[in-house]
Amino acid sequence: MCYEYFGSYAEGLYKMATNKAVFILDNGAYTAKVGFSHSDHPRVIPNCIMKAKSERRRPFVGDQLEDCRDVSGLFYILPFQKGYLVNWDVQKNVWDYIFSKECCPVNFTEAPLIVTEPYFNFPSVQEAMTEIFFEEYECTSLLRINAGDLSCYNYMKKNAGTLCCLLVDSGYSFTHIAPYIKGKKLKQGIIRIDVGGKMLTNHLKEIISYRQLHVMDETHVMNQVKEDACFVSQNFLHDMEIARKRDAENTIARDYVLPDFTTLRRGYVRSIGTADKSSESEQQQILRLNNERFTVPEILFQPSDLGISQMGIPEAICHSISVCPAEAQSHLFANILLTGGCTLFPGFRERVEAEVRSRAPDHVDVRVTLPANPVTYAWQGGASLQQDPEFFNMTVSREEYEEEGHNLCFEKFDI
Ligand SMILES: Nc1ncnc2c1ncn2[C@@H]1O[C@H](COP(=O)(O)OP(=O)(O)OP(=O)(O)O)[C@@H](O)[C@H]1O
Ligand SMILES: [Mg+2]
Repeated sequence: MCYEYFGSYAEGLYKMATNKAVFILDNGAYTAKVGFSHSDHPRVIPNCIMKAKSERRRPFVGDQLEDCRDVSGLFYILPFQKGYLVNWDVQKNVWDYIFSKECCPVNFTEAPLIVTEPYFNFPSVQEAMTEIFFEEYECTSLLRINAGDLSCYNYMKKNAGTLCCLLVDSGYSFTHIAPYIKGKKLKQGIIRIDVGGKMLTNHLKEIISYRQLHVMDETHVMNQVKEDACFVSQNFLHDMEIARKRDAENTIARDYVLPDFTTLRRGYVRSIGTADKSSESEQQQILRLNNERFTVPEILFQPSDLGISQMGIPEAICHSISVCPAEAQSHLFANILLTGGCTLFPGFRERVEAEVRSRAPDHVDVRVTLPANPVTYAWQGGASLQQDPEFFNMTVSREEYEEEGHNLCFEKFDI
C-alpha cells in the first residue's frame, strides 16, 4: 500500500511481532462493523439507540433491539446526520455498549484500534474522534482511515498485481465513488451522490403511505420491506409496462405479509394468490408491491427522479474515471468494486456493468465486482491491513499524540 512512510521498516516489523490482535471499528452511519482482526467476521451492530412503543421505559442500544418483542413504531436516535457524526452523546453510548462485556469486550491499552470515518470528514469531527479515543478510551495506538481505503486494500490484496480500483460505496447516507491508483485515493476524482439506503427507505414509506397504508412511523419494518422486495431494473421502461399489466401477466407484483409481532416477527414476500385459506392468513396485513419494487432503487441511478440534480452511479463512475490520469483509466474500468448495503439489491451489479459498458470507450474492459459480503468488506480489509509490515507506521501512538497533538494526526491520517 502506498502510504507515507514514517518509521523504519524494521521497527514496524518488531511492533507487529510484539502485538496481538487489532480491534477494527468500521463506524457506519447505519451499522458499526466491529471485532478483532483474528475473527473471521465482524459483528454488525446497529449504530443507534432505539425506543419502542411497546417498552417505553427501556432504550435499546445497538443490537439490544433483539430483546424487543414488538418493534412497530420504533423511534431512532442516530449519532450521524447527513453522513457525518454530530451527536456525540449518542455515539459514546453506542460505543460504550460495543466495547462492553455484553458485546465485544476490548482493552485498548493492549489492542490497537482502526476506526473508519467518511471521506472529507470535518476537521473538528476528526479532532474530537482522536481526543475521545486517546483520552476517554485510553487507546495506546490509533489508525483513523476511510472505510474505502480499507476496501481498496482488501481488493488489491485479493487481486495480486492490480494497481487500480474504482470504489463504489453505497451505504446509508450517501453513495461515494472513489478512484484509487496504486493504493492511493485520488481526491479530485471522489464524487458524493446524496442518495443512500436511508433516502430509499423514506421514499418507499412515502409512496406506500400515499398509495395504500400509513407507514410513515414504521421505518424499521419498511426498511425490511425494501431489503426483502426491491430490485434494480435492467430495463426500466419495460418493467414499467409489465407493472401496468393485470393478473398473471404482471410478473412484478408481490404481496408483502407484514409482521404482527405475535405470530410473525418479521414480514416476508409472497407471490400473489398463494395465500392459504386458514384463519391465520385471513388476519394477516398485506402490502401490495408493484412498480415501487424497482422505482425506489432507481433513484440511485436517476437521482433527478427525486429532484436531486446529481449524476446517477454509472455516470458518476465514468466522470470520476475521466479526471484520472489517462494511463490509469482502463485499469479503473476493469476494477470497479461495489461495497455498502445498497449494492445488495438484486440486479445492482449487472445494471452498473451494463451502463458503464455503454458509456465507456469501446476498447476498454469493464468489470464490476460485488464481493460476497459488501457490507463487511471494509472491515475485512482492516483485518488484513493489520498483517501488513507498514501497518504500525500508519498508526499514531498515545505518546506521539501527547507530544505532537492533532497536527501529527492530520499529517498521518489521510481522510
Ligand atoms: N439486502 C439488502 N438490500 C438492499 N439494501 C440493503 C440490504 N442490506 C442492507 N441494505 C441497506 O444498506 C444500508 C446500510 O449500508 P451500510 O451498512 O453499507 O451503511 P453504513 O456503512 O452503516 O453507512 P455509511 O457507510 O453510509 O456511513 C441501509 O440503508 C440498509 O437498508
Ligand atoms: Mg459504510
